[in-house]
Amino acid sequence: MATLLVTGGTGTLGRAVVGRLLDDGHDVRSLSRRLPAGPPAPGLHPYAVDLRDGTGLEEAVAGVDTVVHCASTPSGGDEEAAGHLLDAARVAGVKHLVYISIVGVGGIPLGYYRTKRAVERMVEHSGIDWTILRTTQFHDLLLRVVKTGARSPLLPYPTGLRFQPIEVREVAARMAELALGAPAGRVPDMGGPQVLDVRDLIRLTLRYGGRRRLTVPLWLPGRTMAGFRAGEHLPLIHISEPTRRS
Ligand SMILES: NC(=O)c1ccc[n+]([C@@H]2O[C@H](COP(=O)([O-])OP(=O)(O)OC[C@H]3O[C@@H](n4cnc5c(N)ncnc54)[C@H](OP(=O)(O)O)[C@@H]3O)[C@@H](O)[C@H]2O)c1
Repeated sequence: MATLLVTGGTGTLGRAVVGRLLDDGHDVRSLSRRLPAGPPAPGLHPYAVDLRDGTGLEEAVAGVDTVVHCASTPSGGDEEAAGHLLDAARVAGVKHLVYISIVGVGGIPLGYYRTKRAVERMVEHSGIDWTILRTTQFHDLLLRVVKTGARSPLLPYPTGLRFQPIEVREVAARMAELALGAPAGRVPDMGGPQVLDVRDLIRLTLRYGGRRRLTVPLWLPGRTMAGFRAGEHLPLIHISEPTRRS
């Protein structure tokens, strides 16, 4: 049976990937800066490593066949972290690296998206066989963004934006499937079943949270907002009928 390492194994996606692989009977190594509290589940082997400095990484990747790279710090350092991970994986003879990215990273010049695209390129040129999956935003993320905005009685939102949020467990199941399969390169993008206008997303979130807020539509300038308005972050086809973006 393959030895698998999930980076960011304590995060929203990583935790779900780890859970999925454990449920399928695999032994899994999980890497994050902080160890989760309490004793690990049977079959789970946690490693505390900060990928940005790489100390302890050699031990975490030794004997690993497949790395599922979910760790990320949107505030910065992902390229440095990927560099350490890829170097250590090459030395350890890792056979397959699966990376999670975001639909639209090639077309929307948001700082974090540029970093995701840069890491994609590092993976593609790493010399390790790879698979990259781009997905849309997870429900949890959009919920967090709306909740943060709803702290104030006035809730401004950018007009003309649509989102296609996806359930993180669906993404985790796909990541686990890709990790257990052969390296596949860039696989079809994945998104949730519905494309929703940001106004409706906010309305639904407020309604289910039992909150009332005055929403204020704003037209925001700039190439990033133009990219979102153009739908660069939306895959063309629903998750159950995946296809390549043309
Ligand atoms: N959220 C979305 O809507 C979405 C959509 C598409 C793609 N993605 C991608 O999916 C991945 C996971 O996202 P997420 O929302 O699950 O993130 P998350 O909940 O913030 O989890 C991030 C994970 O990475 C670990 N981590 C962060 N910096 C690290 C470092 N320097 N060294 C080692 N571990 C580190 C964190 O644990 P510690 O803090 O303990 O280190 C945590 O386990 C990211 O690559 C993201 O770009 C996310």
